[in-house]
Amino acid sequence: MLTFIPRSWSISKRLIFLYTVTVCLILTFSGFFLDWVLRTDMEREDRQFLAAELQSIRILLREYPSDIQAWKAEIERETYAAASTFIKYYVRISDERGRSIIETPGMAQIVGNSQFPKAVRTSGTSVEYTKTISCDGKPLLLTAAIVEGYRVGDTERIVQIVLDMSHEAAIINDYRQKVTFVIIGGILISALLGFFITRAGLRPIREMTRKVQGITPEKLKERVGDRKWPAEISSLANTFDKMLDRLEESFTSLSSFSADLAHELRTPINNLRGETEVILSRTRTDEEYRQVLMSGLEEYERLSRTIENLLFLARSDSRKSGISLSPMNVRQEVAEVLEYYDAIREENDISVTIAGNALVAADKTLFRRALANILSNAFQYTPCKGKITISIDSSSKIYHKIIITDTGIGIEHENLSRIFDRFYRTPKARSLYPQGTGLGFSIVKSIMELHGGTVMVKSEPGSGTSVTLGFPRRSDDTAPDLDIRGV
Ligand SMILES: Nc1ncnc2c1ncn2[C@@H]1O[C@H](COP(=O)(O)OP(=O)(O)OP(=O)(O)O)[C@@H](O)[C@H]1O
Ligand SMILES: [Mg+2]
Repeated sequence: MLTFIPRSWSISKRLIFLYTVTVCLILTFSGFFLDWVLRTDMEREDRQFLAAELQSIRILLREYPSDIQAWKAEIERETYAAASTFIKYYVRISDERGRSIIETPGMAQIVGNSQFPKAVRTSGTSVEYTKTISCDGKPLLLTAAIVEGYRVGDTERIVQIVLDMSHEAAIINDYRQKVTFVIIGGILISALLGFFITRAGLRPIREMTRKVQGITPEKLKERVGDRKWPAEISSLANTFDKMLDRLEESFTSLSSFSADLAHELRTPINNLRGETEVILSRTRTDEEYRQVLMSGLEEYERLSRTIENLLFLARSDSRKSGISLSPMNVRQEVAEVLEYYDAIREENDISVTIAGNALVAADKTLFRRALANILSNAFQYTPCKGKITISIDSSSKIYHKIIITDTGIGIEHENLSRIFDRFYRTPKARSLYPQGTGLGFSIVKSIMELHGGTVMVKSEPGSGTSVTLGFPRRSDDTAPDLDIRGV
């Protein structure tokens, strides 16, 4: 619809254009219609006039069949009377051969005999009419009729009447000029009105633009929908607000992430600098230097782990798709990853059980990384003689579930919602395992998102924690032989 309007046109321009074109069409159509009505009415009146004239001449001729003087007097009287109402007409009465007996002076100069319609024998008003142009360019309406006398054998007369329609033509011309003036004036006024109406109509959009322009990173709390908007744009305002909600959330988490990042990097670097300054304040023994370098090494390792984890998260944020999934025997993978924890398992005397199995479509490296993070937590936050269970559950139709449960320190309920935040660590965890970076769960979450899966944590402080990974099932998944045994 309306494809003829260039796309580059503003809404105001479109509305003014359409408004003006509509008004122009309505005015032009009305103008033409009224012109037609006026012309038809005038022509009908002219015909009625000619018919009435013909009728009165018919009566005259019947009353005075051969009194030419009486005809003349009557016709003169009639034409004078008509002239006072701007009606100008000419009459010719001829004998049956067409020879003129009397005629209004000047009639022969304006119209030739041949231009008349054929004179017919009629009665009443049913006569033929012809329109023509006089020799001097005036519009004329002509009629002719054969008039019979009362008695049989009376001579027939041919009556021709010419009506000069210049007066009507002048009225129509005048009317047309006025209508043209009205159309042009109407177009100009409608364009002007269109401009003001459109301006007033689009005011809410301008106000919304101003409001949106005022929303800067410092004013992200402001909302567009906090006032009443017209129905057409209130859903736009709501959409804007929803977008602002999302932006504010990302902006806040981004700035708190930057602050956390600065803090996380500053602390080890300050420690390293402090230690180095102290050791350099005077001459030390080789052993002292060795001690400082050794303790520095731990900080360097933690820093490089933090940076490596951050790089991993940044890369997975940007790669959202494109991981290579392949069928993977979960039990086998879990057993292999667990081998890395043999030392801590033996040292803390922790019992580990694996139950169930599943064939899961996953990226092997990423799966191992997620699992390693969860198992690290389980080993780090479970005291001696604790228990860790890994159960692989394929009973759900939607997900293969891998549930890692420990009998560790647990997480306070109020902290549960934050454990997926980057750098978040509970105070207990900080003292129990100072080398942690607080990025483990963020990595697990991002790996599960890459797989289109889920991660869920349940925990009871003092009793333990249970982490459930859900990998979406695929139609070609088949369960391998179940082999339940401890390791
Ligand atoms: N199994 C668990 N038992 C108790 N607390 C846990 C457990 N797993 C995670 N947490 C809590 O969640 C926090 C976030 O865990 P996350 O793995 O993200 O970081 P981290 O273990 O502290 O450091 P790292 O980045 O080295 O893994 C931990 O600091 C700890 O407080
Ligand atoms: Mg961890």
